[in-house]
Amino acid sequence: MCGIFGYVGSRPDAGGLVIEGLKNLEYRGYDSWGVAWKEGSAMEVRKDTGKISHLNPEDFGGDTSHIAIAHTRWATHGGVTKVNAHPHLSCDGTIAVIHNGIVENFDELKKELTKKGHTFLSETDTEVVAHLVEEEMKKTNDFGAAFRQACIRCKGRNAFLALHTQSQTLVAARTGSPLIVGVGSDGYYIASDTPAFLKHTRTVQYIDDGEMVVTDGKHILFYDIATGEERMKREIAITWNPEQAEKGDYAHYMLKEIMDQKESVARAVNQDEKDIETVAKAINEAKGTFLVGCGTAGKACMAAEYFFSVVAEKHVNFAPASEFKLYHHFLKPESLLIVVSQSGETADVLEAMRVAKSKGSKVLAIVNVQGSTIAREADYTVQINAGPERAVASTKALTGQLAVLLLIAYALTGKLKEGKKLLLETSSMINDMLNPRYVERLRQLSELIKRKEDLYIIGKSWNYPMALESAIKIQEVSYIHAEGFAGGELKHGPIALIEQGTPCIALMGKDEVTTDMISNATQLKSRGGFVIGVSPQKYDAFNEWIKVPDAGNAQAIVNIIPIQVLAYFLAVQRGKDPDMPRNLAKSVTVK
Ligand code: M6R
Repeated sequence: MCGIFGYVGSRPDAGGLVIEGLKNLEYRGYDSWGVAWKEGSAMEVRKDTGKISHLNPEDFGGDTSHIAIAHTRWATHGGVTKVNAHPHLSCDGTIAVIHNGIVENFDELKKELTKKGHTFLSETDTEVVAHLVEEEMKKTNDFGAAFRQACIRCKGRNAFLALHTQSQTLVAARTGSPLIVGVGSDGYYIASDTPAFLKHTRTVQYIDDGEMVVTDGKHILFYDIATGEERMKREIAITWNPEQAEKGDYAHYMLKEIMDQKESVARAVNQDEKDIETVAKAINEAKGTFLVGCGTAGKACMAAEYFFSVVAEKHVNFAPASEFKLYHHFLKPESLLIVVSQSGETADVLEAMRVAKSKGSKVLAIVNVQGSTIAREADYTVQINAGPERAVASTKALTGQLAVLLLIAYALTGKLKEGKKLLLETSSMINDMLNPRYVERLRQLSELIKRKEDLYIIGKSWNYPMALESAIKIQEVSYIHAEGFAGGELKHGPIALIEQGTPCIALMGKDEVTTDMISNATQLKSRGGFVIGVSPQKYDAFNEWIKVPDAGNAQAIVNIIPIQVLAYFLAVQRGKDPDMPRNLAKSVTVK
């Protein structure tokens, strides 16, 4: 969480450049923002609370600066105030620091530095780093060396970027949170994610955990933080293009990304068959397979339990990554952990993965972001190829994850081609569904329920995790209290919540659980529930019917599409920004 972006090089518009790039990182946090650049020999700083979309890059130094850093914040320590916004400065004002993570021992460091005469202005943990580097600079005149010593003293999972005016140098360090270098013909870009600099370069170097970089814009050097030894780095070309990361004519990224699913599911399916077969072999040979993920990605894992059971008669266990701590006792060198993550940076998932590796187990990662930490640390990686997902609410990443997991389920029994055919048909069904009439129908439906404060969703088999996912989608963007249940569980408690007119959504397919679901939907209707059926067929139990194609074993993928659209319109109709829901950030890199 928090977006970091910095530039040093021959371009004279560094301040504006970093503000422009920061707008592409706003999904990582949007409580407040800040920027620092060197103008003449002085440090210029601007910061404020709120979002950054309205900022004009030209107001940040014009053509006066070759070095700048910028930050968008998701607050952890210290309230959302202008003073607490990053960057934070040393007492002499020559060092500016921005940060993603938590300096766990900041209190102790702050006391020590205060005793030495440093004055603190904010309540943040980050500010200690600026003063710590300043203190270290008293022992050496080398900014990189001083920064390395400061990093060694900071505990926690962090990413830091610092600007030093006197040496005109940027230094960045990674001890748990992501940082990537963009190698340009005109200098170096350092960011927490590639969309910040995709417009300028698609050549990257990854900073690994425990590493730092020092650059003056002409050269860049990588070091091991603990030993100070220099590290060699490869340059890697990434395939995402800047247009994929833009929202084009759409009002919001969320809508754009929902519409991207006309093509993104097919991209997820078009995998190298040999890679999928290798992964299937690893699952077949493993003694115990676990699936972990968080939030929406976790719901994809839960759906995969059903895919693996129905398609491949294979038993796998799902646990939310944050709950995995008590499961690792089962892990053996022969176990396999499948981790699913859009960003490839989620802290809980990374922790689960590292625990598995420490037990000698193999890890398969299903990720979207190319070159992410999870992708790089896994033994096997399958990319879902959804393209950049910017809205906090995950949409196209979910359907890509479901498609890859279902494809693997088919591959487990040697029926990869059959799975591929089904999924490509499903992709064209999604293309047909997302037509203007269908979208308008869902907008009208959102009008009917937009003033309700509670909403319940039911489903059975793979539609059960989709009911849970529907609840997440509706909660996070519209702030309606939404809850998902297994259809059969209703009568064991939740049905007590149903009153006259309570909106209830029933997610259904044409399968062996349809009869049970009709009965569950009827139970809701007879208690006064306003039942919206998402189903290939219409039933009397429905007050409203949202038709979805019959997609067989891929029903979960088509059923979630109208819910995503509905959630989007509910947010918009209730005057909320679906791209930036309150209290959330896209990439959850803290625990
Ligand atoms: O990047 P990840 O897929 O690991 O993120 C996991 C969750 O934080 C994420 O799916 C979250 O639940 C979504 N914002 C929900 O739409």
